[in-house]
Amino acid sequence: MKAAIIEGFGDPAATIQLKDVPEPASPGPGEVTVEMLVLNINPSDLLQIQGLYGVSRPPLPLTPGGEAVGRIAAVGEGVTGLAVGDIVSPMILSCWVERVTMKASLAMKLPAGIDLKQAAMLKGNPATAEALLADQLDLQPGDWLMQNAANSAVGTFLVRLAQQRGINTLNIVRRESAVEAVKAAGGTAVIADALDDPRAFRKRVREAVGDAKVRLAIDAIGGGATGLMANQVADGGTVVNYGLLSGEQCRIDAQHLIFRKVTLKGFWLIHWFQEIGRARLAETYGRIAAGMADGTLTTPVADVVAFAEVKEALRLAGEGGRSGKVLMVTEAGRQAGV
Ligand SMILES: NC(=O)c1ccc[n+]([C@@H]2O[C@H](COP(=O)([O-])OP(=O)(O)OC[C@H]3O[C@@H](n4cnc5c(N)ncnc54)[C@H](OP(=O)(O)O)[C@@H]3O)[C@@H](O)[C@H]2O)c1
Repeated sequence: MKAAIIEGFGDPAATIQLKDVPEPASPGPGEVTVEMLVLNINPSDLLQIQGLYGVSRPPLPLTPGGEAVGRIAAVGEGVTGLAVGDIVSPMILSCWVERVTMKASLAMKLPAGIDLKQAAMLKGNPATAEALLADQLDLQPGDWLMQNAANSAVGTFLVRLAQQRGINTLNIVRRESAVEAVKAAGGTAVIADALDDPRAFRKRVREAVGDAKVRLAIDAIGGGATGLMANQVADGGTVVNYGLLSGEQCRIDAQHLIFRKVTLKGFWLIHWFQEIGRARLAETYGRIAAGMADGTLTTPVADVVAFAEVKEALRLAGEGGRSGKVLMVTEAGRQAGV
């Protein structure tokens, strides 16, 4: 079978290789074999291949891929609640393979009719949006938050979830052509701003929110963008950084932290998984899967590329100005109708 592998760190499209590897072992007790159907490509995958993700580089060779959707191909002894043919979200890393044998407890069963492309994007970004919205501050209906990179998958989910709860969102995108999609998703206000002119940015924020206090700013960019977001939150407000799309560390003036009591904190989904408890996880993913199934919580898809063309897929995923995510489809996924 085929697996995507890196043997060094570097430019994703140049570094990734598709290799023949042995089939996974038959599932043992408590295990299942999952046939991957659709594989997602996230910014974190690209950063990992560049050796820029997390606190230390992972050992090589490595199969990347944090997200996918698959179908149960075989079930080991003692596994309950999963059967051959079930569609699952594998809660594992190294997803860019054709088949994998894994712990059954890490295969989250999804509704049978779920859209496979949407299901490939279920594990990370929707839960991140939920956690950023619900678990940072106790926001009430009518409150405002602001976020940058608002047209990203996380940003779009956040807009939808906030709208469902009556929370107003001020959304910042870096290009005019992204404004409409965020408005259509339910963004209360959307501005295109390159975040390079603090005065102009302040003016535009004030025009958008009027006298309202923005207590929460959500930053996916880092670098100077973090400081600009801090500049606009109310005294005592919170800036949550959850990504470094600029490739730069967060820069924030100490005056906000010291004199305005602004808090800067980070968010990582893995910690949230560890802290949140099974009941909340089950409730969150149940709600997200239902929203994907009824079409209210979906992410736009820009391209679906054959897994055999993994280099081209990574090239497309690394381009700015996409209209949605770039997904890869395996041969089994094609046969399943993707
Ligand atoms: N901390 C966590 O646990 C966690 C979990 C999930 C995701 N994330 C992070 O969330 C962020 C969004 O992920 P996603 O999968 O939702 O993204 P995505 O759908 O792939 O979209 C990428 C977004 O990044 C923007 N962008 C790319 N390069 C940029 C730059 N140099 N400056 C400003 N904006 C830039 C794009 O703008 P254009 O459309 O204009 O190109 C687009 O809005 C990423 O940083 C990711 O690592 C973090």
